[in-house]
Amino acid sequence: MNVIEAITERRSVKHFDPEHHLSEKEERELLELAMLSPTAFNIQHWRFLIVKDPELRKKIREVSWNQAQVTDSSLLVVICADLKAWEKSPEQYWRNAPREAQDFLVPAIGQYYNENEPAQRDEALRSCGIAAQTLMLAAKGMGYDSCPMDGFDFDAVGKMINLPEDHLISMFVVIGKAVQPANPRGGQLDYEKVVFENKF
Ligand SMILES: Cc1cc2nc3c(=O)[nH]c(=O)nc-3n(C[C@H](O)[C@H](O)[C@H](O)COP(=O)(O)O)c2cc1C
Repeated sequence: MNVIEAITERRSVKHFDPEHHLSEKEERELLELAMLSPTAFNIQHWRFLIVKDPELRKKIREVSWNQAQVTDSSLLVVICADLKAWEKSPEQYWRNAPREAQDFLVPAIGQYYNENEPAQRDEALRSCGIAAQTLMLAAKGMGYDSCPMDGFDFDAVGKMINLPEDHLISMFVVIGKAVQPANPRGGQLDYEKVVFENKF
């Protein structure tokens, strides 16, 4: 499947085969593809928490409006943002870059984010959103379906997964074998309503 097909055929699927399992290799491939997504300063704020324990999945489903995808998909990924990734050994994000680039970029990270909490949060959530889409397109390319989800109690899920203090949950992405196609598209906005030239 090429990229354009993956984009047009990806839909939010609600019904998955609960008996289907991804192999460890497929799971790792999906996440490694998501990890190739772009991030500002290459900070890679995402942390992917995979919920493997079926009991924990049931508990998460209870605080997710009882949505079946939470238990029936083959993979439940809680995409979390590390809001402080920018200050955690920032040299690691440029370790393979030429020395001059490292000398410029690594201090620039601190200068940009230090004491700028809105930027720290916005940037981390942007990274997670892009990674979520990469994950869903990768799934499509590998013959699977997916659903992004934020219909859950963020605080309750945070407690269940021991979310660190300096992390936020961005969303869930569930992946699996569809047993029912997605509903027809709800209604895409007209091109003219969303695309502008030069100024609003
Ligand atoms: C951030 C986000 C949260 C969503 N939360 C849910 C959810 O909790 N449950 C669900 O069934 N779909 C959820 N969706 C899926 C949307 O309903 C869906 O993307 C939208 O209707 C467009 O349909 P499509 O993804 O099939 O193109 C969510 C989508 C996004 C991007």
